[in-house]
Amino acid sequence: MVRLELSLALVCATRSLAYIQYSTVTGYFLQDDNSTNATFFDYTATNFGLINQSYPTDPKKAAPLTQWQRFALVVSSLNANAPKNVDYKVLFAGRHGEGWHNAAESYYGTPAWNCDWSLLDGNKTAIWSDAHLTQKGIDQALKANAFWKSRIQSEKIPTPESYYTSPLYRCLATANLTFSGLPLPAKHPFIPTVKNKLREGISEHTCDRRSNKTYIQNSFPTYRIERGFTEYDELWTGVTAETSSAQDLRSKELLDDIFSHDCSTYLSFTAHSGEIASLLRVLGHRAFSLSTGAVIPVLIKAETIDPAAATSTISAASWTPSPHCTVPPVTSVSGGANGGCVCPNGVAPVITSLPPFPT
Ligand SMILES: *[C@@H]1O[C@H](CO)[C@@H](O)[C@H](O)[C@H]1NC(C)=O
Ligand SMILES: *[C@@H]1O[C@H](CO)[C@@H](O)[C@H](O)[C@H]1NC(C)=O
Ligand SMILES: *[C@@H]1O[C@H](CO)[C@@H](O)[C@H](O)[C@H]1NC(C)=O
Ligand SMILES: *[C@@H]1O[C@H](CO)[C@@H](O)[C@H](O)[C@H]1NC(C)=O
Ligand SMILES: *[C@@H]1O[C@H](CO)[C@@H](O)[C@H](O)[C@H]1NC(C)=O
Ligand SMILES: *[C@@H]1O[C@H](CO)[C@@H](O)[C@H](O)[C@H]1NC(C)=O
Repeated sequence: MVRLELSLALVCATRSLAYIQYSTVTGYFLQDDNSTNATFFDYTATNFGLINQSYPTDPKKAAPLTQWQRFALVVSSLNANAPKNVDYKVLFAGRHGEGWHNAAESYYGTPAWNCDWSLLDGNKTAIWSDAHLTQKGIDQALKANAFWKSRIQSEKIPTPESYYTSPLYRCLATANLTFSGLPLPAKHPFIPTVKNKLREGISEHTCDRRSNKTYIQNSFPTYRIERGFTEYDELWTGVTAETSSAQDLRSKELLDDIFSHDCSTYLSFTAHSGEIASLLRVLGHRAFSLSTGAVIPVLIKAETIDPAAATSTISAASWTPSPHCTVPPVTSVSGGANGGCVCPNGVAPVITSLPPFPT
């Protein structure tokens, strides 16, 4: 046993020297099937989306084993038969429950939110700078918790062996509620690692600015914070926004880091709609947008190859400033000129160092 773990660790350690190419293995989950519409998809009504089917690896007497137990045999078999440079992992990516910034975007409407309100720390009654969960968001995380409990009890689902979370408060809190009080194996307790690269796409919105490390550690004392995590947020400026290619590059760096150092097969990420969308792009999964609190499983194939043989590499575009209106805008369009902001009376959107925030 010890020898096996050592040799696995060695395989993992060598990966960082080469290029890791990711793909999604389809045919197991409804979410990676083009005919599944994400709009009304409910992961809790579909066993996380695991398709009911028999597998060649099913034992002769499959009856007593659940679909998830039999899927676990598929994954073990894939890994056991894979060449040395290939690794399969199952990722459960969960989006945080509704935060005050989500509530505010619904309340003010997307144009007014994107081009005006999102740049402020909050309004008179709500704070959305590093937003906390609303009651609805708490309920969504508790729903995920109840669903995990039911899957463990009735499906004997393989639970995550490693947990990772974005440093933004809504994710720290969602992970806490989702994985509290579950009958998890003693060998793999819920002790998440806070990863800066798992955060949301960094726009000028104050909901994308993280809190300081001391506050995170004091709020969630059982969490591990990755090495190198700075006291203050050094990425959010409030002036320029991360481009989606830059985000994809850091999503790949995050995956490379985890796939090079973590030999677990089952992983849990607690992150954001934009960040999960970016991870799905890097993993070659089709677009599948998650509502707040939803979870998506992905069967990942990682191939360590010669960098010269990499077929798709990401070149990150520089961060760009997004102009804004000084009063609520007429409308906004996604992307495009002027950050998509159309201000009243034909007034051109402005670009300044936005907004005044405590340093
Ligand atoms: C799913 O749709 C994408 C884009 O339309 C297409 O490239 C891909 O081949 C489709 N996959 C399957 C399995 O039909
Ligand atoms: C999914 O369902 C929604 C709502 O019914 C619909 O507007 C949308 O076009 C559907 N998407 C696809 C890809 O079929
Ligand atoms: C799989 O079968 C079970 C009953 O055995 C059913 O409750 C469930 O909804 C089915 N899941 C899917 C994704 O079709
Ligand atoms: C502030 O925004 C929240 C949504 O985040 C909304 O529910 C609340 O009504 C707003 N307060 C005021 C005074 O407009
Ligand atoms: C959730 O957070 C509370 C408050 O910090 C803490 O007491 C509890 O241990 C946490 N639970 C988990 C599972 O992290
Ligand atoms: C860290 O953040 C908390 C919450 O925003 C704040 O109260 C505290 O003063 C900050 N600590 C430092 C050292 O900046």
